[in-house]
Amino acid sequence: MKNSKFLRALNLKTNTIPPVWFMRQAGRYLPEYQKVRKNYSNFLDMCKEPKTCAELALQPIERFNLDASILFSDILTIPDALNLGLAFHEGEGPKFSNPISSTDDINNLYAFDVNSLDYVFRAVEETKNLIPANLPLIGFCGSPWTLAAYSIEGGGSKDFKKTKTFMAENPNALHDFLEILSDACYQYLKQQVLSGVNALQIFDSWADLLSENELELFSLRYTKKITQKLKDDPITNHIPIILFEKNPNKDITDLIFKDLSCISLYWTSDIRILSESLKNEVAIQGNLDPKVLSESDEIIQKEVQKICSLMKDYPGFIFNLGHGITPEIKPAKVEVMIKAIREDT
Ligand code: CP3
Repeated sequence: MKNSKFLRALNLKTNTIPPVWFMRQAGRYLPEYQKVRKNYSNFLDMCKEPKTCAELALQPIERFNLDASILFSDILTIPDALNLGLAFHEGEGPKFSNPISSTDDINNLYAFDVNSLDYVFRAVEETKNLIPANLPLIGFCGSPWTLAAYSIEGGGSKDFKKTKTFMAENPNALHDFLEILSDACYQYLKQQVLSGVNALQIFDSWADLLSENELELFSLRYTKKITQKLKDDPITNHIPIILFEKNPNKDITDLIFKDLSCISLYWTSDIRILSESLKNEVAIQGNLDPKVLSESDEIIQKEVQKICSLMKDYPGFIFNLGHGITPEIKPAKVEVMIKAIREDT
């Protein structure tokens, strides 16, 4: 693990060739993933098989020799453990059969029992056993805000209208819920660390629903509660934490706080400007637009080189996509991207 380029970058060290991994690296764009996936009608059932999770996490490592592995699971395991009844069916996004629709639903929630997510911690152990010994494993959770948004909306949605109405009508209940989720996320991440993960990423995938003030009040404030607890805890205080905020309505420089080792940039962020203002403060991960991977090889190479040359001397750069890879991307295009990263520098 000492020679991990990924961990070096998280400690603000430069690497001659930047480390690379990417969001949804294990997923539907890989035919070997589809082969396993077709044995399950509900995606969550697959997440509950630790050996299968380990096998899926290994797939992109074997294919592309990436510099970090990410736990195969989902951010919505926590609301599921709170008894909201999560299912993912063919061709649909996540759906909760028992979403939060009133203050009473929050008052009557099941107490979070971290042991009910034992299948995730066993997946961490199985994955650590399966991947190369020197390869770091990233654990993760959703931000409390993003988990609350899914839990209230009952699934994905274009406008998250229910969530916004709930926020306007029941702000106090929403704060209670965010508090419950923050504590659950902390316990969940701590247990992932105890099971073997080497870094943590928090996904705030619905940050863009919030205005600048709301982002601080409903999202960052709770994410900070998680990181504060992790940093106060001797078991977890050495683990680097990465934050991904999707298209936030706030300057990225104002999102950084002391517990973060790294900020993962959405593809709309200007990595050049940010690399100047964040130098020596945090590592930067990002941020190739995933849509570039459907372009020609030449365009992919050009866009990759642009990012790599900008970030060449940045202390702590990790190449990543600016959001998850999408199912229609051809693995050969990922190959082109990785070659360009590794040959160019
Ligand atoms: O390599 C990896 O990154 C695998 C682990 C992983 C998954 N989901 C597997 C998955 C991770 C880190 C996630 C995080 C996640 N899950 C996020 C945050 C990242 C982001 O995209 O912003 C979010 C918002 C979710 C919630 C979620 N899970 C949605 C909205 C969906 C369905 C639609 C979609 O975009 O895929 C999922 C399902 C899911 N999670 C799949 C995978 C591989 C596809 C499921 C399938 O095969 O049917």
